[in-house]
Parts: sequence; C-alpha cells; structure tokens
Amino acid sequence: MKKLLFILLWLPGLVLAAPSNYPLDRVAVDPSDQPSLQRGAQLYMNYCMGCHSLQFQRYNRFARDAGVPEELVMEHLIFDPEIEIGALMTIPMSSAAATDWFGGVAPPDLSLITRSTSNAYVYTYLRTFYSDDSRPFGTNNPVVENSSMPNVLWQLQGLQEAVFNDAGDVVGFELVEPGLMTPEEFDVAMADLVNFMAYVAEPYKLDRERIGKWVLLYLALAFVVFYLLKKEYWKDVH
Ligand code: HEC
Repeated sequence: MKKLLFILLWLPGLVLAAPSNYPLDRVAVDPSDQPSLQRGAQLYMNYCMGCHSLQFQRYNRFARDAGVPEELVMEHLIFDPEIEIGALMTIPMSSAAATDWFGGVAPPDLSLITRSTSNAYVYTYLRTFYSDDSRPFGTNNPVVENSSMPNVLWQLQGLQEAVFNDAGDVVGFELVEPGLMTPEEFDVAMADLVNFMAYVAEPYKLDRERIGKWVLLYLALAFVVFYLLKKEYWKDVH
C-alpha cells in the first residue's frame, strides 16, 4: 500500500514533465534597466510576436515602465495601424490553425513563461538551436528536444551544428555559418530579450519593491508608537 502511494505521488511528475537534463546557463535580469527592456521589446516584436502573444501585457504599460514615449511605441513596436496604445499584446493567429502548422503544437502565449520555467531556461533555449535535417524545420534544440519551433533567430546568430558525446547528448556547438552578430553580441541580445520577458511576467516587480520599503518603514515607526502607548496604558497596573 505504501509503495503504491509512493508511486502515485510521483506519477504526475513523470507524465507531465519531460525534462531534458541539458545544463542551463544563468542570466542576470534587471527590470530597472530601461535601455535593456527597450532592446528586448524590439527583438520580441520583430522575431517572436508573429507567433507568441503576450496576452496580459498592454503596450502603454510597457511604454511607461520602459520610459518610452507612447508615440515612439506606436511608431516602432506596433506594426498594425488598427492597434491602439492601450491594447493588450495579443496576436490574430488562431491556435487551431497554429496547431496545424506546427505539427500538433501551437506556439504558447509567453506572458508567464519565465515564471513557469525560469530565466535560465528561456535564455539557454534561445541560444541552443542547431541544424538537424531530420526535423521538419531543419532545426532541433537540446533544452526542448524535437521542439516544433523553427530557428527564428538564425540570421542574427548564424547556423550552428551540435557536438554530441558517445551517449548522444549535446555537449557543445560549432558555428558553421556566422550571423549578423558575434556570439558575444548574440548572448547580450538574448539577455535583453529574457529581461523583457521576465519584466512582462511580473510588471509590478519594481512597484512591489518600492512600496515594500515604505511598508516596512511604516511598520517600524508604528511599532515605536504602539510600544510607547502600551507603556502609558499599563503604567498604573504594574
Ligand atoms: C514561426 C512561429 C514561431 C516564432 C516566430 C517563435 N516561436 Fe517560439 N515556439 C513556436 C512553437 C510552435 C513552439 C512550441 C514548441 C514545442 O513545444 O515543440 C514554441 C515554443 C516556445 C517556447 C517554449 C519552449 C518550451 O516548450 O518549453 C519559448 C520559450 C519560445 N517559443 C520563445 C520564443 C521566442 C523568445 C521567440 C522570438 C525570438 C519565438 N519563440 C519565436 C513557434 C514560434
């Protein structure tokens, strides 16, 4: 009986998660770094928004948080004149059609992806697409093996081939065709992109931290006042 319970406990984990054990590269994010958020958003709009919506994010909220005038967001990030500055960052692609195009997997909404996975996961995933002729889009990825996502950043990164160990695991990469960016520049660009996505996953993070300081200060002051009050009330009792 105990054994059965134990197995049942582990079962959901076994079925849902198909984790690859590819080591993830850590990346530092900083939502107060506005130039990085702006560069990340630019990359997102140009290379990701065609397939992945950010359904909980509004353009004007981003404009405010990233310190960009709304006119500039309208000009450089919104490509459809029908879309207004207060709109959510949704896309017109229907998920049924998308499921069809990408062999059974629709591109997920990425509003919360850095929280449901991690910053390191997304950062590593974006930098590890490699050529693989056996896949429908000619590309594969060690973080999400047999991922249905095409290698949309190959013009920037160039094309790389994977180096395998004897067990068939990816252990490294070899750049076979350089892209518009050097590997160092590409890493910085992906860090900006992940910074933007981490910001979208928690846009109120900076507010939370700013307000939190005042709340703690208030509690500290209130403690002094209440302590003095308590002393005053109890002085005749003791
Ligand atoms: C042409 C459509 C397309 C574009 C453009 C695209 N993706 Fe994807 N993406 C997909 C599909 C399809 C999946 C589902 C892959 C799967 O699960 O096999 C996916 C999955 C993902 C995932 C989840 C991986 C996982 O399964 O855990 C992340 C993260 C992601 N994409 C990030 C991006 C980013 C960032 C960009 C822009 C640089 C981008 N995608 C551009 C189609 C696209």
